[in-house]
Amino acid sequence: KIAVLDFGSQYTQVIARRIRECNVYSKIFPYNVSAETLREEGIQGLILSGGPASVLREDSPRPDPAIFELGVPILGICYGVQLIAFMMGGEVKRSDRREYGHGTLRTVRESRLLASLPGEIRVWNSHGDRIIRLPEGFETVAETENSEFAGIEHPEKEIFGLQFHPEVSHTECGSEILRNFLFKVCGCTGDWSMANFIERSVEDIRKFVGKEHVVLGLSGGVDSSVAAALIHKAIGDQLTCVFVDNGLLRLHEREQVELLFRENFSMDLRVESQADLFLDRLKGIEDPEEKRKKIGNAFVEVFEMAIKKIGDVTFLAQGTLYPDVIESVSIDGNPAALIKSHHNVGGLPEKMRLKLLEPLRNLFKDEVRLLGRELGLPKDVLWRQPFPGPGLGVRVLGEVKEEYLEILRRADAILQEEMVTADFYYKVWQSFCVFLPVRTVGVMGDERTYDYVVALRIVESADAMTADWARMPHDLIRKISNRIINEVDGVNRVVLDVSSKPPSTIEWE
Ligand code: XMP
Repeated sequence: KIAVLDFGSQYTQVIARRIRECNVYSKIFPYNVSAETLREEGIQGLILSGGPASVLREDSPRPDPAIFELGVPILGICYGVQLIAFMMGGEVKRSDRREYGHGTLRTVRESRLLASLPGEIRVWNSHGDRIIRLPEGFETVAETENSEFAGIEHPEKEIFGLQFHPEVSHTECGSEILRNFLFKVCGCTGDWSMANFIERSVEDIRKFVGKEHVVLGLSGGVDSSVAAALIHKAIGDQLTCVFVDNGLLRLHEREQVELLFRENFSMDLRVESQADLFLDRLKGIEDPEEKRKKIGNAFVEVFEMAIKKIGDVTFLAQGTLYPDVIESVSIDGNPAALIKSHHNVGGLPEKMRLKLLEPLRNLFKDEVRLLGRELGLPKDVLWRQPFPGPGLGVRVLGEVKEEYLEILRRADAILQEEMVTADFYYKVWQSFCVFLPVRTVGVMGDERTYDYVVALRIVESADAMTADWARMPHDLIRKISNRIINEVDGVNRVVLDVSSKPPSTIEWE
């Protein structure tokens, strides 16, 4: 097991993830964890992360000095190496300019850390302070054009330091360096896997929850589904999942969730059927932001009601992932600079005095999918396209009416079915229909029609920050359009959205 001490770097979780990729178990600790705790954890090595602070400031985060006497190998990265230099008697100086971006690293001495790497590699730097004198017993093993102490080592104590970031993909051979640390220096065996992760998480969840009851808002999306499966494995019926049917769901969505979680997983699943309440709140409202607010508030209200019905609930479980966490308020003494506050369920935990249980908060999306697969969740859940919280509420433009939703649901089901059949569903980021409350003239048979319009929105994207309309085969678009117009009453025209993001957005509202 490798411990990573978190000094607030945005890359801390990336370090942990790289270690997991080497099939070694890693655990992140707050920077001020005691050496005693680490000893009890039985760690084989210790990594000190980077961080935004300067070691020269009195109030900067410092580790327990006793960690240097633990007798396990230590690797300091960026702020971590400056800490090592500073705390062990070297000298660190404020630099007039920040070193940021690529540099060329040259090996100047043989080192187990850099073993079997090319003599020169491109590395990624991002730091302000610099080391100007090494502590006793340390030697330089690599340098860059800007620093003669880019890689340092205390061979007897097995303490290593890197000024650059080996964990980011911009650093060539970065994974090799971490592998060297794990396998050549720390003697890790590399036999850890997702199955071990489940085992440990199950133990942790049991310990954390005790005999208390946990509630989880299940949406049917990847994150909440995997969280539910994992927690259920740990505590069984101490978990109650609440699924809110807000009337803004896709065709048969609720039945699919019930089948999977109640029938297959035997979970205690409570479905709150509140379509009327949501539609009522949306009556007469056309503004997209106002619609979102109404839907969000109604969700909180219904969820609170559901929790009251369950009774004695102590924990609220959420499928929060690491990418959600980096944008959150820092906790656990994590000194990460606050980027954006982010609330998953509208501040519910504080209001209801619930404790949070977030078993996925150290994982990345693709790791969550691996975990879900290991837990037996089907592919169509793990790889389903993103679906917005307000659901079809933001895909019926303007005022939401049951009649419009019904049309949209049926049109959308046709689109999804054809996307799956043509093997495009999992290749695009999102594919969905939008209902336009606009009527146009058409002919069907000998009859004039005057019906609504449905738009097809099919996009490619890596992270939803930018997106482009997907170039789908025209024959497929034709088939989808024909089917929607022929099979869905009330629609006589289908249009294709050919806008990119930016300047458009993926959703229409
Ligand atoms: P936009 O429309 O802003 O969407 O380009 C970017 C991505 O976010 C999804 N989306 C949401 N997801 N709650 C969510 O959980 C929301 O309120 C919400 N609004 C948009 C959208 O589907 C796309 O993938």
